[in-house]
Amino acid sequence: MTDVWARKSIVELLAEASHAGAGDEVQPLKRTLSALNLVVLGVGGIIGAGIFVLTGHAAAANAGPAVTLSYVLGAVACAFAGLCYAEMSSTVPISGSAYTYAYATLGELIAWIIGWDLILEYAVGAIAVAIGWSGYVVSFARDFGITLPAQFVSAPLSFDSQTHTWAATGAILNVPAIIVVVLISALLVIGIRESARFSSFVVAVKLIVIFLFIALAAHAVTTANWVTAANPEGRFIPPNAGEGVFGWSGVIRGAAVVFFAYIGFDAISTAAQEAREPNRDMPIGILGSLAICAVLYVAVGFVLTGIVPFDRLNVPDPIAVGIDAAGIGWLSPLIKLGIVLGLTSVILVMLMAQPRIFRAMAHDGLLPQVLAKIHPRFQTPHVATIGCGAAAALLAGLLPIGLVGELVSIGTLFAFAVVSAGTLALRIIDPALKRPFRAPLIWVVAPAGALTSIALMLGLPEDTWLRFAIWLVIGLVVYFTYGRSRGRGRRARTN
Ligand code: ALA
Repeated sequence: MTDVWARKSIVELLAEASHAGAGDEVQPLKRTLSALNLVVLGVGGIIGAGIFVLTGHAAAANAGPAVTLSYVLGAVACAFAGLCYAEMSSTVPISGSAYTYAYATLGELIAWIIGWDLILEYAVGAIAVAIGWSGYVVSFARDFGITLPAQFVSAPLSFDSQTHTWAATGAILNVPAIIVVVLISALLVIGIRESARFSSFVVAVKLIVIFLFIALAAHAVTTANWVTAANPEGRFIPPNAGEGVFGWSGVIRGAAVVFFAYIGFDAISTAAQEAREPNRDMPIGILGSLAICAVLYVAVGFVLTGIVPFDRLNVPDPIAVGIDAAGIGWLSPLIKLGIVLGLTSVILVMLMAQPRIFRAMAHDGLLPQVLAKIHPRFQTPHVATIGCGAAAALLAGLLPIGLVGELVSIGTLFAFAVVSAGTLALRIIDPALKRPFRAPLIWVVAPAGALTSIALMLGLPEDTWLRFAIWLVIGLVVYFTYGRSRGRGRRARTN
């Protein structure tokens, strides 16, 4: 055994969270968030590009009308991991989420790997959604006769994830993507409560938009739209046409695709130290927001494939296609506005989560101390927020969305697998620990959370795996050249 397996004790973690004093570099964060705030933050972080874009791709290419089932499967997979997150975040209500849980259960090296991996979920996730945001803003402006200059609304190179080819776009920089990241980072520096308030407004708008879509389009739903060339008999699950193309294998591949739509519920666990009553409120926030989104997603998937034959949905704006088909085209600008705002809150939640993980890692000595600093007036981790925002803004201006989307999914699934395994490990290591929320049937739920996450990872393409592996190798190099000599593991050895 070497120091890289050093674990942080839960008692030590809890003491640090409550006793870090003023003037300390690691001051406590402000406890301002209620259960409702957390549910709203969760829904704000979940509903985004996934439901508004990927539903169409998954229906057209993988599942047909059974995309509804793909959403159910995705929700079940997330629910296993969600129960584990809920148990962990009520037991160890410390900012840092999966990273902190791994430190307490599986040791420093695994914690580092997870912390590094979470950059893919949160920072890269924010970049992916900011690029999508830019696309919708351009389209929304065009509806009002405003054409934004093409050189400044997309990345210089595009990447086709199907053919793995790069192409020059003729553009220079994606300026709207940069602007949204900069503005949101500024809001997050000012205060998490202000950010939660903004998020509440945005969540209300996007829920209204989704309800309007379901309510106004429902009358046009007919199983006649299930009939396509690939599904002449109009079955709910079209006949299989190859690995991952319709049939049950298509439903499962579709679940891997729409999994992206659920990412975000775990992000609120990074705000555990800012929750008023984390023991009770974290499980409500995590499981409540996941349940609300699952119901809405299943309803949207059902309505969308019931109003448009699924072979017409492989477009960047499937909801807009559905609206036209249902004869409610007047709703289109409102829907686009709702989508733009909806994506804004996803970026907000992701850019909120990332600096809190950096802060926790810096606190443990694995990253430079400056990232743990809290602003004296705003009481937010301002250095980490600004640093992360600047890097994310630059990359959002330069990277194509095809490159980043699947990296976000694989990174998140890996974190889910580790948190699920860690929850079970902690039950074994420390059975007597006070757990305000206990996941039921842990011997079923935790292995199921890990296995479903790994199964969904296996559904992702090889080149995504390769990029993921390269990212982890870079992380290990950083750990062995920086963190290992400064982290707690070293302190444990020398003390
Ligand atoms: N769940 C988030 C979205 O769909 C990442 O945009």
